[in-house]
Amino acid sequence: MSEPRPRCVLAFSGGLDTTVAVHWLTNERGFEVITLSADLGETKDSEELQQRALRAGAVAAHVVDAKELFLTNFVWPSLQAGALYQGVYPLATALGRPLIARLLVEVARETGAAAVAHGCTAKGNDQVRFDVGTRTLAPDLEVLAPARVWQMTRADAVAYAEKWSIPIEATAEKIYSIDENLFGRAIECGAIEDPWAKPPEDPYTLTRITDTTSAELTIGFEEGLPVSLDGAACPLGALIAEVGERTGSRGFGRIDMVENRRVGIKSREVYECPGALAIILAHQDLEDLTLERDVHHEKSRLETRWSELVYDGMWYSPLKSALDAFFAETQRYVTGEVRLEVSAPGVLRVTGRRSPVALYDHGLATYDAADTFRHADAEGFVRLWGLGVQTWAARQSRADERPGPTP
Ligand code: ARG
Repeated sequence: MSEPRPRCVLAFSGGLDTTVAVHWLTNERGFEVITLSADLGETKDSEELQQRALRAGAVAAHVVDAKELFLTNFVWPSLQAGALYQGVYPLATALGRPLIARLLVEVARETGAAAVAHGCTAKGNDQVRFDVGTRTLAPDLEVLAPARVWQMTRADAVAYAEKWSIPIEATAEKIYSIDENLFGRAIECGAIEDPWAKPPEDPYTLTRITDTTSAELTIGFEEGLPVSLDGAACPLGALIAEVGERTGSRGFGRIDMVENRRVGIKSREVYECPGALAIILAHQDLEDLTLERDVHHEKSRLETRWSELVYDGMWYSPLKSALDAFFAETQRYVTGEVRLEVSAPGVLRVTGRRSPVALYDHGLATYDAADTFRHADAEGFVRLWGLGVQTWAARQSRADERPGPTP
């Protein structure tokens, strides 16, 4: 009897790299490979995925519907944080990876595996998220990234699959690397790699203009979470999809950016995230109406930090958890509705907002007869506000720091 082989749980997308990885981990590294495919909203045939994994040599193939887990534990906190990396990217892929890391660890525990593996290459952020995520959740597990070590080009991987008769997807040269979940779609490679080149139309699926009329939609929030559309209660998954459909069909939701990867590379990437972006925009607007000024401004600063932590694979970190608690506290009164208007090509505007707990006070803001503001208070306030710099100007500022002709 030969020694039992150690087990390894591989995050499996069904693409060329992860399919070849099943065979490679089995034959080059001596593992019994168990695959895990998480459904985060990308339409894939789970039967087909399982068959593909088993045919490549996996001993078991799990497919997990993780959409609800993704929405509740990853998308919700991100919406409350108003997270946009570099101010524009709603982190769709970056939110999915720590969830997959968690599922890998769960299956590893259930099956007594000694290692987990993923199909990421050495140049991207996703390896960082899988490696660091797994190590923080299960420091004892080994993390393997076959595509980081095997040094095969795409053509080599196809040849490897042919040599070992591993069935792979149609081998027509794949132009783009695409990752999709219910919060958005990331597109890399091909013509997009030239930052000056206008992105070609063909990789887009969620933001092609199919409707040239303009439309209005009203998103309702409770404690910072979107809960209704046009006055009717709507669960988050359906809401992201429906808002995405109505705005994406008018061309809204494309992002074209040069991105700062964690590994020091600048890369040109395009995204389509119509639902996520429209909801984040509406949420920001409602915060303008409901958050106290200092909380509002401090939150903006910390949103950037949270986005960087999550982008950089620090989902399971103490700072990220502490910031979550801060954001959750800020959201207690972010309740109300925001009305949006969208029209082709891709123009989205907020046209109104209201809240039962708005800090907007018409009496204080108005210039008409309903004015309740105490005008007389302003003069003393403003004088003291500027007193320090006024004193400085009189005693220390140089003449050339003042406007007007130099004496
Ligand atoms: N650059 C994005 C990020 O780091 C998207 C990565 C998408 N991954 C992919 N294999 N296409 O979050």
